[in-house]
Amino acid sequence: MSRKTKKPTFPNSYQGKNAEEYNQSTWMERNQKRTALLCIQYLYDQHLDNVHDYDILRDIPYTILDLGSGTGFSSEILAENGFRVIGVEILKDMIYKARQKKTDQNKDLDIEYILSDINYLPLRANSIDHIISISAYNFIIHSATTPKEKIILLSQTAQYLNTILKTHGRFILEFYPADEKELNLFKTSFINKGFNGFMIQQHPNQKSGQTFLLLKKQTN
Ligand SMILES: C[S@@+](CC[C@H](N)C(=O)[O-])C[C@H]1O[C@@H](n2cnc3c(N)ncnc32)[C@H](O)[C@@H]1O
Repeated sequence: MSRKTKKPTFPNSYQGKNAEEYNQSTWMERNQKRTALLCIQYLYDQHLDNVHDYDILRDIPYTILDLGSGTGFSSEILAENGFRVIGVEILKDMIYKARQKKTDQNKDLDIEYILSDINYLPLRANSIDHIISISAYNFIIHSATTPKEKIILLSQTAQYLNTILKTHGRFILEFYPADEKELNLFKTSFINKGFNGFMIQQHPNQKSGQTFLLLKKQTN
């Protein structure tokens, strides 16, 4: 089974020679970069915004968090499009490659990679303009064995993401929920913790397929 068709598992798919293979894969690079461009497009989606209330183009450059930044494909695209990027990655094998590429490319991209768990981010309240996450967020519940543990983990993380976002902050999440039940767990965690928005599914008939949540921090 090739990487294109094999369902990745965490952490195995991103360690040792698998990390190397991931980083060398032109298919993966194209896929992650294409999705990152789509996330930028969704960040400016007018359905998410009340354009009369707030001009999203104000205050550029934005600081954007890339949750689960892997070897840096998505972070590079964000930085090339003018964002100040903080890439968050939990595995050394992946983050080392991202940092190495940044040094080798010598492109002066505004990216800082931090070794951290999405569930426990070392960031201050109201410090981040926007967040994206591509093909990573579904792994944050990998250690949870019961539905209750999953709900607690998702809820704590959604709360924390809301806290670090500035007013009008947005979160564009691309992920692959295992099934409809899991999709609802993720959606509910955001709604309960002060986000609103909507969902886009590339293949709506497949309940476990590629899913985008376009979220914004609710304002009072
Ligand atoms: C598909 S890969 C990377 C995708 C990335 N957008 C890119 O362009 O390469 C998903 C990444 O999420 C990371 N990840 C999974 N759980 C994480 C967590 N709790 N905290 C931080 N990173 C995590 C994995 O280690 C893996 O590198």
